[in-house]
Amino acid sequence: MVPVDILGEFSPTKRCEKMSGKYRTRICNVLVIGSGGAGLRSAIAAHQSGCEVLVIGKRIRNDAHTTLAAGGINAALGTVDPDDDWVQHFVDTYQEGYHIGDPKTVEILVKDAPERVNELVDWGAPFAKTEDGKLDQRYFGAHTYRRTCYAGDYTGRAILNTLVSKVEELRIPIIDMIYVSKLLVNTQNGQKQCFGAVGFDINSGERTVFLSDSVVLAAGGHTRIWRRSSSRRDENTGDAMRLALHAGCKLADMEMVQFHPTGMVHPESLAGTLVTEAVRGEGGRLVNSEGERYMERYDSVRMELSTRDRVALANYTEIQEGRGTANNGVFLDISHVDKGLILEKLPRMYRQFMESQMLDISKDPMEVAPTAHYSMGGVVVDPETHSTGVGGLYAAGECTSGVHGANRLGGNSLAEILVFGKIAGEEAAQFSMDLNLQMRNRDIIKEAIAELDELTTPGEELARPLQRAVRNIMWNHCGVIRSGEGLDQALSELMEVKEASKDVDVRPSAEGFSDLALALDLLGSIDSAEATIRSAIARKESRGAHQRSDFKEMESGETVNYVVELIDGQQTVSKTKVDDLPEELQVAVDAYEQLSVEGRLLE
Ligand code: FUM
Repeated sequence: MVPVDILGEFSPTKRCEKMSGKYRTRICNVLVIGSGGAGLRSAIAAHQSGCEVLVIGKRIRNDAHTTLAAGGINAALGTVDPDDDWVQHFVDTYQEGYHIGDPKTVEILVKDAPERVNELVDWGAPFAKTEDGKLDQRYFGAHTYRRTCYAGDYTGRAILNTLVSKVEELRIPIIDMIYVSKLLVNTQNGQKQCFGAVGFDINSGERTVFLSDSVVLAAGGHTRIWRRSSSRRDENTGDAMRLALHAGCKLADMEMVQFHPTGMVHPESLAGTLVTEAVRGEGGRLVNSEGERYMERYDSVRMELSTRDRVALANYTEIQEGRGTANNGVFLDISHVDKGLILEKLPRMYRQFMESQMLDISKDPMEVAPTAHYSMGGVVVDPETHSTGVGGLYAAGECTSGVHGANRLGGNSLAEILVFGKIAGEEAAQFSMDLNLQMRNRDIIKEAIAELDELTTPGEELARPLQRAVRNIMWNHCGVIRSGEGLDQALSELMEVKEASKDVDVRPSAEGFSDLALALDLLGSIDSAEATIRSAIARKESRGAHQRSDFKEMESGETVNYVVELIDGQQTVSKTKVDDLPEELQVAVDAYEQLSVEGRLLE
């Protein structure tokens, strides 16, 4: 079955008043929302299971956020360190996630990652090889062994290009520049079932009702809602979390937001841009304004390759305590490494600093500071199927929770998108093939279209400044270190922005419907910010990426997941217990050296 246009009433030159109530319809078996790595891998899996698949993304296909993942992808292949195996990868991931990752999800990740990486190589991914032709593996922070495969420092781009080529080879259609405003969910006999989504073309405004048997949501995280972020403008704005929440899904671990230790600090337009961990993996050293290699004080064993939460906290503390650089950063120095090696292993970093600062990193140190980087929490999914609890709705990638717990190991996210993208795609296809009868409630479609009409109206407020206000609130009160007082303040300021967001001016112009996309981004940002703040208030301890100055200790009673759901339209927080480890993995974890708490919270 080929995706079909049913209504042909739309003319792209008509503007919003003529669009009211009108839409095009497309039909497929499996609809994939998001054209990044998780979305494309799930599309391939669903197609190979025999389904008609349609992928829609809000950016151009080769430019999804996956391209920004730099340093590598983890798989316990043991090509460089033969002692490595999936059990050790499990232990590193679970232990460094401070025991709140879901054990089954982590187990699936580490067991499947080698096959997914090898498959990608078969599809043409240009990963670095050793002299004897095996996949090369580099060190990334807090991994016991070298297990991070890479393509220079543009691994995400290499992976995305490979997946796009595969999708094109399989002739799976992708429609770019589609903004999804709502998932279509029917409730019958108390059971929710997703039957598609409503979206619009960001350029033409054309609205489409996508009808499908099942949906895979793979639309990214929410880290752009912090002032300093490694995400680009208008990506990772929390829209996936909003779609899921309003469809009836639960969100877990939203307070667990990874701050990458090393983002650029200037120029202001690039502040927050990722400086890959691979710089430290290749020998880069962190130094403060006094010339001290300070990681000695925070983790004298692993130094710069300590866990991200520790290195981020160390950088933050050095800056806060006055040992930062003129631009409020710390120095990251790789100038002692041979220039040829830098150009071979870190070509993007070399170019990034040369182009933006005229800085030659083979001669001078970079200035870096923590930047919001990754949503470790997100949609609650079943570990083995990545179903969400809403019938027919699956989720994969950064918008989900389960793998990373309170701290993500670098390189695990690229593994996650491949492993769980495939699983979600296969399961969504299976759901479609098993489907006997589906109710497609036209009132629900009308409601979703009416919501777009209601949003597309003049108002007194502009989305960009309100978005800026959200980012300032999150940065000032919900950043590397938080406090109960600051979080309460954040919530009350956010509620003011929420109120203002009801009167946003949306005027489609000759330049397109980006105003409408911005208004929806703002709503996604507000919803995901609220879930983050509420969860952060609930977690009264310090653990991994969640550091509270008023609760400095990690509490064993808090080895739980905080879960947010909408009850009567209000975000409500509850907590759930983390599943026990299977015995053999418990033994492996017990054998791992006790976590050092030294240097975890220094103020
Ligand atoms: O630093 C980095 O290259 C980031 C990798 C990751 O977040 O997995």
